[in-house]
Amino acid sequence: MNWKNSITDLLNIQYPLIQSPMFGVTTPQMTAASSKAGCLGSLPLADLSPENCIKLINDTQKLTDQPFAVNIFVNEVPKIDATLTEQYFKAKTFIEHLANENGLHVVLPELNTLKITDYHDQIEAIISQKCKILSFIFGCIDDQSIALLKKNNVLLIGTCTSVEEAKILSEKETDIICVQGIEAGGHRGSFKADKIAQIGGISLLSQIAEQVKNPLIYAGGIYNAKTLLAAKTLGAAGVQVGSLLLGATESALKPFEKNHLKWAKEEDIMLTKSFSGRYARGVKNKFIEIIEHSEYVLPYPYQNKLTYELRKAAKEKELADFVGIWMGQSINGFSEKSTTELLKGLIQETEDFYKN
Ligand SMILES: Cc1cc2nc3c(=O)[nH]c(=O)nc-3n(C[C@H](O)[C@H](O)[C@H](O)COP(=O)(O)O)c2cc1C
Repeated sequence: MNWKNSITDLLNIQYPLIQSPMFGVTTPQMTAASSKAGCLGSLPLADLSPENCIKLINDTQKLTDQPFAVNIFVNEVPKIDATLTEQYFKAKTFIEHLANENGLHVVLPELNTLKITDYHDQIEAIISQKCKILSFIFGCIDDQSIALLKKNNVLLIGTCTSVEEAKILSEKETDIICVQGIEAGGHRGSFKADKIAQIGGISLLSQIAEQVKNPLIYAGGIYNAKTLLAAKTLGAAGVQVGSLLLGATESALKPFEKNHLKWAKEEDIMLTKSFSGRYARGVKNKFIEIIEHSEYVLPYPYQNKLTYELRKAAKEKELADFVGIWMGQSINGFSEKSTTELLKGLIQETEDFYKN
């Protein structure tokens, strides 16, 4: 099977397979292990401070001399006003009380102490470390930053969840577009945090391939040869796999979280805003059941910042009911093999399927 195409050429990799950036799961070891399989590793930097970005990039550079992508969040940040201040206070009080009742004695931060990262500072850090591939999610970076990144020969991969968003990325001269189907685990890459389009991968990918000229990567539900080849048939030059790697040896998840994923049932996988204020696909738990339709969900990134200490304490105490455990709809791919083995396995299975 000939894997060479626009994506392998642009990204300088052997196979057009991309390991999803998964904040909280992907480690520098996972990123390097993906390169070892001839695929593109992606290092998630989320909204980390520039100093933390540099540290993670350096840790990864020590493990591999192959290209890898870095990934950031480029969302808009709602202004703090009287309504948000009041809403934040109420949510903080309620969630602290809920945590206490469940044996988690946490003090959540005051609104005026939150540190919100400006993605422009991350971009400076990324350029300073000579990274050559930047993927981003939750919006499109501004024109000035695009010009700066292009001047520094950084290849851009933007994420979309609708045809409209794909067209915006294409007009902004994003090199590659990552099309995220509704099946995908983790946060929706939608430009808006609420009132998001919820389009299944088949409809979305096919329509974007017809209307946009950029090389496409498809993300969402890929876990075996058939799903990979379906994405190829619908117009994707590359595929991005996330959930397939959640249990991998190099995953940062703790054994209790992996166990939770291993036994997750189809009906437990849902979209939720409870932990971050942005829709993410993961496994239903007690926190989601109580918070999802309450008045205690703040806009992103405030909910995310508010619940951080709760999630951290719950992780330490191994209380799966208060941790955001993300996973996509293809739950049958869960495995605890190494990242390299899992990716090589997917490549081999596809080659065998193609031959027969
Ligand atoms: C645990 C987890 C964390 C994620 N974090 C990020 C992230 O930091 N940045 C990003 O662009 N996408 C993130 N995603 C979404 C993935 O990039 C990708 O769209 C998704 O994993 C593909 O669907 P799949 O999980 O069905 O393979 C995350 C997904 C998961 C499962």
